[in-house]
Amino acid sequence: MISLHTEICDLLSIKHPILQGGMGPYKTESLAAAVSKAGALGVISSIGMAATLLPDAAPIDAIRLFGTDPPREILRKSVENVAKQLKSGGTFGVNIPVAAEFLLASKMFFEQVIESREGDSDVERALTVLVTSAGNPKPWAEIKKHGLTWIHVVPSVYHAKKAEAAGADIIVASGHEGGAHVSWDPVHSMVLVPAVAKAVKKPVVGAGGFCDGATLAAALCLGAQGIQMGTRFIATKESDFEPIWKQAIVDREERQTLTGRGLFGPMRFVRNTRAEKIVEQTLSDVPRFYLGEPVESNEDILKLERNGFEDLIDAKSDTALMFGGECVGRIEDIPTTSELIEDIISEAKESIKKMYKLL
Ligand SMILES: Cc1cc2nc3c(=O)[nH]c(=O)nc-3n(C[C@H](O)[C@H](O)[C@H](O)COP(=O)(O)O)c2cc1C
Repeated sequence: MISLHTEICDLLSIKHPILQGGMGPYKTESLAAAVSKAGALGVISSIGMAATLLPDAAPIDAIRLFGTDPPREILRKSVENVAKQLKSGGTFGVNIPVAAEFLLASKMFFEQVIESREGDSDVERALTVLVTSAGNPKPWAEIKKHGLTWIHVVPSVYHAKKAEAAGADIIVASGHEGGAHVSWDPVHSMVLVPAVAKAVKKPVVGAGGFCDGATLAAALCLGAQGIQMGTRFIATKESDFEPIWKQAIVDREERQTLTGRGLFGPMRFVRNTRAEKIVEQTLSDVPRFYLGEPVESNEDILKLERNGFEDLIDAKSDTALMFGGECVGRIEDIPTTSELIEDIISEAKESIKKMYKLL
């Protein structure tokens, strides 16, 4: 059987060149363990764990999602749980957003990752990757001193060069069709991935719109060494997401996502009444030329988000807040992660064989 092996498989000690993207507000603990067991890279998501640090207007009902443990403790337990499940093999990572608004938590979670690895040999063996995103990579070069492989997520060639200069080992080029936070500049994967692959020497992974074997093969043609998937992994049996979120991903067609204002900038939402209201509010907040009066803040959006998370937990699918990428239109089932990954790999091989026959 021909294998589909790229440079990132060796760098990350994984069998298949597929990464699971960090995905708040969940810990993605069971998803990360399942993905890593299936031979790809599972990733624990830290962003939601910090929700208890937010003021009263917190957009996430943190206690209902995470209990009352302090953020570092939530991460410590999650990391230990996943490492325990991977005793017989497999590696995983932790995603830490490094946006300016999140830096307090970023530092705290980074220290916890180091402490967890130093204190437990199972964690040290299995937790080998740190994925930073949504901010400046420069202050994070220290990651390398701790023997971790460092992945940084970027939305442009400019940011990719910065990540390379800072010392990142792998660069994820994240196109505008992706779910949740997207860049202010709407550059999609078809343009972004080959441009980043050409501009840097480090291996590049494509993110945004990748969801099956055809798109994995396409990513390799565009010069990437693999793909990072978010939306596709939500709709899997083991994913930590609410059933209504998984179903929404299956039900929507490709036109049914919307971008509006989110926590650190624009976000791509699964289209429903909640997403439409957020977009409406975003547009009404767009700065205009006012003389005298200051422009309003985005507090109303935070309220809309917080209510949306409450409705998510209450399973109200029309008003729940759900993020998702344009590839919702290409997702029709809720398989196990291992079925999904095996299918993607065999379909990618078929696509590559078909292309070869064209020569
Ligand atoms: C629900 C959801 C939550 C996400 N949260 C994060 C996050 O916390 N940190 C991060 O770096 N990226 C986050 N992302 C982006 C993903 O890691 C990934 O790059 C993106 O989903 C890829 O595009 P796709 O949705 O088309 O697969 C999120 C995506 C989704 C869909």
